[in-house]
Amino acid sequence: MKLRTVREIDPRGKKVLFRADLNVPLSDGKVADDSRIRAVLPTIKWLLENGARVAVCSHLGRPGGKVVEELRLRPVAERLQKLLGKPVPCLPDCIGPEVEKAVEALKDGEILMLENVRFHPGEEKNDPEFAKALAAPFDIFVNDAFATAHRAHASTVGVTQYLPAYAGFLMEREVQVLSELLTNPKRPFYVLVGGKKAADKLGVLTGLLSHVDGFLIGGGVAFTFLAAQGLKVGKSVVDEKLIPTIQNLMREIEEKGKELHLPVDVVVAPELREGVEIKVISVQAIPEGWMGLDIGPATVGRFAEVIQRAGTVVWTGPMGAFEVPPFGKGTEAIARALISSKAFTVVGGGETGEAVEKLGLAEKFGYVSTGGGATLSFLQGEPMPALEALRAD
Ligand code: 3PG
Repeated sequence: MKLRTVREIDPRGKKVLFRADLNVPLSDGKVADDSRIRAVLPTIKWLLENGARVAVCSHLGRPGGKVVEELRLRPVAERLQKLLGKPVPCLPDCIGPEVEKAVEALKDGEILMLENVRFHPGEEKNDPEFAKALAAPFDIFVNDAFATAHRAHASTVGVTQYLPAYAGFLMEREVQVLSELLTNPKRPFYVLVGGKKAADKLGVLTGLLSHVDGFLIGGGVAFTFLAAQGLKVGKSVVDEKLIPTIQNLMREIEEKGKELHLPVDVVVAPELREGVEIKVISVQAIPEGWMGLDIGPATVGRFAEVIQRAGTVVWTGPMGAFEVPPFGKGTEAIARALISSKAFTVVGGGETGEAVEKLGLAEKFGYVSTGGGATLSFLQGEPMPALEALRAD
């Protein structure tokens, strides 16, 4: 997929509507993880250094078309200001006369931040009137919001009806890295899947089946697979209605001669709570009333062996309930196995990105995608409306 990019334009003196995905986790009103902000800095800096007048727009959370005070973008603007080392004033709205005035007053190389686009119901409905109002003060549209590229919203697709549209450097890189995985991965190519819900990951597994050499499955997802094999998994989270689909998938994996690696041992506890009693147990012997909350050391060892011989590994979804100690050990051990392997390692999925960021290991991976749902949609070949709107061919 070839995109029109900012490399094609001279942005000097142009009023640029810059769409980023600054949907970042907040804690006590402060940005808890700024990786999505840092990821768009190269495009912002390039635009400013080349004399553009930039208005950043983004969504934050799911306010449902109305103003939600805790979802204002001010903390994000403050962090961006710190990272850029220049003022980033934050406007109280993203459309209207006040925005038009502020954009008109921008000088070459200056930047401001518009308020959360999802405060307007027209954003998620891709309402043409809202898109037109959003585009009104600008000359061009630059989209660097890969993590929202699977959404056909006014600020990702609608505005392209009214402004010439280009991809930023992050968008370009995400598409390039993820497309390479689908067309030309270094083999053997494994996908390592975890996370809480099997339903969220099934599409990736089926979508990638013909591309990969094998799957490694941990996290909550694994228990529905183990249950589908007829094992008793106690209180572990199982999506019963997916069992027939998963049984079919397992058959297909076998028929196609692909590898499937499931946990052989797990860490179980009566409930998910810090300091609770735990046991490390074979998957054949999960006691009634206990739930699996992490992969065990034997599984880590087996997964690490596969990772050592891999050419490419895409990782999406933590191996356990990593946010509650001690259930983060499997995730950390697998992260370390990945960074010490020779494989090209790609982290996709918001929660996995957060986990490696928290561990301080993000820089050591081959590539950490900023997308959560968007990365999975891309990899499973679903439509990406915001990318279609930037297509060069
Ligand atoms: C994400 O965090 O995955 C993106 O910002 C998209 O958010 P959404 O799922 O609320 O559209």
